[in-house]
Amino acid sequence: MSDYRALVCSRLGHWSGLAVERVARAPLQRGQVRLRVRHAGVGFAVSLFVSGQYQRKPPLPFTPGTEAAGEILEVAAGVDGLRVGQRVVAALDWGAFGEEVVVGAETVYPLPDGVALGSAAALPITYGTTWAALEWRARLQPGETLLVHGASGGLGMAAVQIGRLMGARVIATASSDGKRALALANGAHHALPADAGALAAAVKDLCGGAGADVVFDPVGGDLFDASLRCVANHARMLVIGFAGGRAAQVPSNLLLVKNVSVIGFNYGQYIGWGLRDERKLHAPAVQAVVGQVLAAIADGRMPPPVTQHFPFERWLEAIDTTMARRSLGKVVLDLEA
Ligand SMILES: NC(=O)c1ccc[n+]([C@@H]2O[C@H](COP(=O)([O-])OP(=O)(O)OC[C@H]3O[C@@H](n4cnc5c(N)ncnc54)[C@H](OP(=O)(O)O)[C@@H]3O)[C@@H](O)[C@H]2O)c1
Repeated sequence: MSDYRALVCSRLGHWSGLAVERVARAPLQRGQVRLRVRHAGVGFAVSLFVSGQYQRKPPLPFTPGTEAAGEILEVAAGVDGLRVGQRVVAALDWGAFGEEVVVGAETVYPLPDGVALGSAAALPITYGTTWAALEWRARLQPGETLLVHGASGGLGMAAVQIGRLMGARVIATASSDGKRALALANGAHHALPADAGALAAAVKDLCGGAGADVVFDPVGGDLFDASLRCVANHARMLVIGFAGGRAAQVPSNLLLVKNVSVIGFNYGQYIGWGLRDERKLHAPAVQAVVGQVLAAIADGRMPPPVTQHFPFERWLEAIDTTMARRSLGKVVLDLEA
C-alpha cells in the first residue's frame, strides 16, 4: 500500500471534526518499524489531543490514537529483536487510528502466545501506566487496601485487575450498577457508588475504620477530596487523571495529620512525551513493566483487559461512548485492514 485509511485531525477542536482520509506512507527511518494496525485503544485523552489541551501537541494534520495492536510490516536498520510478521502492541506519540503507523522500536512490545490481539490494544499505555503507578510510585503491598475510582473505565479496570494480582483488597467505585458488577466480576472485592458524599463513611466501614492504604484516582474532583477523608495512616494517593473535569486542590493539613503522600504519576514521561524525550532512557524499565503485564495475562494469573469494540467506520460512536461516560472497560477501534 502506498497510502492507507486514517482518521485525521486537520484543525484543533471537537472530536466530531475528525475525518477518515487516505494518508501517504511515511518513509521508515533507522530504528523504526512499520505496523499494520488491527486494533487501537480509545481513551479519554483523545478529546484533549484533538482540542489542543493535552501536554503533547502534534503538528497538524495528524492522526490521533496512542495505543496500537497489530503486526510488523517492515523493520528498519538498527532494530534488534523485532521481525516482520510479529504480533506486537505499541505505545505511540499519535497515529493509532489508521491502518498503518510508523513507530520507534523502543515502545514496541512483542505479544506472547496466549494474549489475544483484540484486547491487547489496551496494554501498552493503559496497563503500563497502571502497573508502573502501583509498583514504582505507590509501592502497593499484598494485604493493603486499594481504592480505585472510575473502576469500569480503561485505567480503573486495569487498576482493579492489577491491584488484585498484586494481592491488595480492592474497593472499586463506579457510577452505575452495571459498571460496579463489571468491577466485581474482574477482581474487585467491594464496589461502591461514585458518590463523593457517601464515600468516606462507606470506605471506613469496609476497612474497620482504618481507611484505604492506596488510592488510584483517574477521576479527580470531588472523589479525590472525599478520598482524602478515608485514607489510612501512611496512605499513598495516586493522581492519575481528571476524567471528572476538575483537578483537586490538596489541603496540606490533612496530609500532615495522617502522614499521607499525594503522588503525581505521568507515564508519558517514560515513553517520550515529557519535556525532554526520555523514551530511550526509560525503555528497559517500561519494557519490564509491559512484560510483566503480558506474562500475567499469558499465564492466566490476570484476566485480559475488558474491551468494548467498534468497527473503524463507527469511530465517532466509539469516541462519543468514551466521552459520555457510557464505556464499559476499554473502548477499542477495530481497523482490520
Ligand atoms: N497519568 C497518566 O500517565 C495517564 C495515562 C493514561 C490516561 N490518563 C488519564 O486517566 C484518565 C482516565 O482515562 P481512561 O482512558 O481510563 O478513561 P475512561 O476509560 O473514559 O474512564 C474514565 C472513567 O472516569 C469516570 N468519570 C467520572 N466523571 C466522568 C466524566 N465527567 N466524563 C467521563 N468519565 C468520567 C467514568 O466512570 P464512572 O462513570 O463510573 O464515574 C469513566 O469510566 C484520563 O484523564 C486520562 O487522560 C493518565
